[in-house]
Amino acid sequence: MEEYEELLERKEVAAGEGSYTLVLTRRDLSSLYPGLHIFTLRLLLGDQTVALFRTNTYEYSPTDPLDAESVTRKKALIWEDLLSRDPEAFFSAHLERVGRPPDAGKPDVLIIQGSPRADGNCSLIAGWAAAASEEAGCSVEVVYPHDLWITGCIGCYQCYNTGFCTFDDDMTAIISSLRHARLLVICTPVYTSTVPGELKLVIDRFQAYHAEMTLAGRFIPRNGLLFSVAGRTGRENFTCVTRVIHDFMENLRIIPSGDILVDGIDRLRDIRNVPGLEERIRAAITGVLTGREGSS
Ligand SMILES: Cc1cc2nc3c(=O)[nH]c(=O)nc-3n(C[C@H](O)[C@H](O)[C@H](O)COP(=O)(O)O)c2cc1C
Repeated sequence: MEEYEELLERKEVAAGEGSYTLVLTRRDLSSLYPGLHIFTLRLLLGDQTVALFRTNTYEYSPTDPLDAESVTRKKALIWEDLLSRDPEAFFSAHLERVGRPPDAGKPDVLIIQGSPRADGNCSLIAGWAAAASEEAGCSVEVVYPHDLWITGCIGCYQCYNTGFCTFDDDMTAIISSLRHARLLVICTPVYTSTVPGELKLVIDRFQAYHAEMTLAGRFIPRNGLLFSVAGRTGRENFTCVTRVIHDFMENLRIIPSGDILVDGIDRLRDIRNVPGLEERIRAAITGVLTGREGSS
């Protein structure tokens, strides 16, 4: 049980040779989402959690005869009954996965390149950012969401029960990479005043990482940089993009450490003609990685 959980019930259960403890807790996450409560049922052997069940209030509609607390209490009775009668049957049926999916990449710097144009302006920027990161002695991963299989978030809130997403697609590896990265770089064009759809899918699916950190009670601070390109001229073209990306970073406790916004660039690779831009991108990366802040 964590300090931010409220204890609802604690019961000793004798089973075979062993003695277990059933612990039922509630966690109030209303400050994040109105009325969101997570109910957790743990079976402990000493300090070790050997079985885990979670459910939350967002899973039950107002017309549903069931609710999260009564479902958890009922589950506790079922566990207690089966465990005391037949521990072997209990563990073969109820041993839950406690933990999270395996780790994939472990880059120091994760770059997400949001444009579907693989050889466009944002790709060039991502390349400069990757080169600067490597020159600073860091490992880099560049992700192109357009090339990946990423399902949209369906708002099931299961991630607040388990710490990971219902869907196991290419987003699993992206979350794993961010878990290890100390710097996240978003390179994105402006599409209809905001970010391209594929990048938005990635942003929404990062909610599972927010859930993982919320359940762990530990947010890892890291830096974030935004590099964006718009076809039209004027700073106002970036209003939504900067808002979306900054809100996303804030949600994951990523510290916005600099924006470089380039307007009036439409044609493929014209970004190369912006005087001093490559140097500014490189300086922003190096500045964050060496402890000096990024530029804006
Ligand atoms: C579907 C689409 C929507 C766009 N919407 C905007 C927009 O709202 N405002 C803007 O300034 N540029 C807009 N653009 C232009 C792109 O931001 C611009 O061409 C940019 O340089 C593309 O970057 P890329 O080469 O990395 O793909 C749009 C382009 C496309 C294809």
